[in-house]
Amino acid sequence: MTKRVAIFISGGGSNMLKLLESMTDDHPARACVVVSNDPNARGLEIAEARGVPTEVVRHQPFKGDRRAFEHALSGVLAPHAPDIICLAGFMRKLTAEFVDPWRDKMLNIHPSLLPKYKGLHTHERALAAGDKFHGCTVHKVTPELDGGPILGQAKIPVLPDDTPDRLAARVLTQEHLLYPAVLRRFAGGDNRLVMLR
Ligand code: GAR
Repeated sequence: MTKRVAIFISGGGSNMLKLLESMTDDHPARACVVVSNDPNARGLEIAEARGVPTEVVRHQPFKGDRRAFEHALSGVLAPHAPDIICLAGFMRKLTAEFVDPWRDKMLNIHPSLLPKYKGLHTHERALAAGDKFHGCTVHKVTPELDGGPILGQAKIPVLPDDTPDRLAARVLTQEHLLYPAVLRRFAGGDNRLVMLR
């Protein structure tokens, strides 16, 4: 049966768009909703233009009460009955209370070769460390931030004249290939690693 995918965003939504574009024809999944914590996220317009339902749960009113924010997230999600959640540039930490019921059903894309550089500023950190390679990872989400089992990675060389912005742009191009490739495999019930290099 076709899997229903909820995509969580906070901003531009370029990964979201690549996922939406990929879910056609014989793909085993379709998007059922795009959820943002920011009403101004550009990705919301992109999703709406494609006829995908959107929901906004602003995090500010819940400041200091992550559980209440997550309760609201679960509330807007329920009517769309997703089978899979894809975090695609969703910049809020989720607690175990939200994550645990979605174990093995929630994916995230992260702009580093995990387990290196969990958290923020990954491109700056890779450059500061003098890394020869950098990239991105799609992994299953567990309560440990950026710590769940890896489903795919794309690796690129760091170039001598790279800046954080240039490196980020080249990594993002790889994210756009990796996430759809992993989702297709994962939604079809295949957890084998996708390695792009
Ligand atoms: C992407 O680079 C994604 O890997 C990163 O945010 C960007 C979102 O871009 N995610 C994280 O850093 C999560 N920790 P997009 O909105 O254009 O897809």
